[in-house]
Amino acid sequence: MPEFTHSPVMVAEVLAALRPQPGGRYADGTVGGAGHAAAILAASSPTGWLYGCDRDGAAVEAAQARLAEFSGRFEIRRGNFAELADWVPPGGCDGALLDLGVSSPQLDEAGRGFSFQQDGPLDMRMDQRQELTAARLLNEATAEELAKIFWELGGERDGRRFARAIVQDRERRRFETTRQLAELIERLAPRHGRKSHPATKVFQAVRMAVNDEIGSLQQGLAGMLRLLKPGGRLVVITFHSLEDRIVKDFGRTRARDYTFSGTVDVPELRQPRAPELKWLQRKALRPAAAEVTANPRSRSAQMRVMEKLGDA
Ligand SMILES: C[S@@+](CC[C@H](N)C(=O)[O-])C[C@H]1O[C@@H](n2cnc3c(N)ncnc32)[C@H](O)[C@@H]1O
Repeated sequence: MPEFTHSPVMVAEVLAALRPQPGGRYADGTVGGAGHAAAILAASSPTGWLYGCDRDGAAVEAAQARLAEFSGRFEIRRGNFAELADWVPPGGCDGALLDLGVSSPQLDEAGRGFSFQQDGPLDMRMDQRQELTAARLLNEATAEELAKIFWELGGERDGRRFARAIVQDRERRRFETTRQLAELIERLAPRHGRKSHPATKVFQAVRMAVNDEIGSLQQGLAGMLRLLKPGGRLVVITFHSLEDRIVKDFGRTRARDYTFSGTVDVPELRQPRAPELKWLQRKALRPAAAEVTANPRSRSAQMRVMEKLGDA
């Protein structure tokens, strides 16, 4: 197995929010290289328990190995965190974590096809059992679909132009490699001293579409909340403004008090709903400058924290 090394971000902040205790139960929906999971298990020694999952088989294998010293105190399965609530008992967890996006090994291994910096197959699947790959998306989607993906998920202003060129190019030669896609975009949008590579947004958008990252997050947030007991905390770390907006909207909606004690019949309030959570960290917390220097991949991290309400 190739080495699986990922530096977990904002570990001290995650621990401060989750306050792991002996006997506590925790869920990590993005276990990755198990950096956060190991920190949670260590802080809740000797009896804290962790449920974990990751879509990536290599991550799950690495996490099992990394957590060997905590054997008998965790259960980790391969799967989407949107389905964690299918096998983790509801209402039993003291804390839950989502640390979204990709892990360093996914980005660094050319064969996974996530990176425009190295040539590899256009794959980008977090779960390699899945059928849809980046190549299939690029070779089969219409220009309108591609343009929409580039704009909605990548905020790419040149998305229409790129999409039209992809559809034209693929008539001559199917898209198979990351280099092919990166070169096409470089040709259409030369770098001109820009700091980021012109293909950055397109690669991100394709990755998010291939892995249905937005759909998983929307479903996963609700599922993670179900796992918590009242007073349990949910920590979410995002690396993308669209994801952060979804987390913010989720928290805002679920924190709203829809109960109504007036005497006037207001149709929208006929099905009253009490707030399900409160914000502990409504304004996103960013990593400290020292962490960004030591681990530049942490620079876009934003962390928000919610606490589940209800009778204990
Ligand atoms: C930033 S890494 C997590 C790193 C981890 N916290 C650690 O300490 O090493 C993100 C991980 O989440 C996984 N992932 C992303 N979306 C997922 C989903 N919907 N369900 C399960 N795992 C997911 C990726 O495969 C990747 O391993």
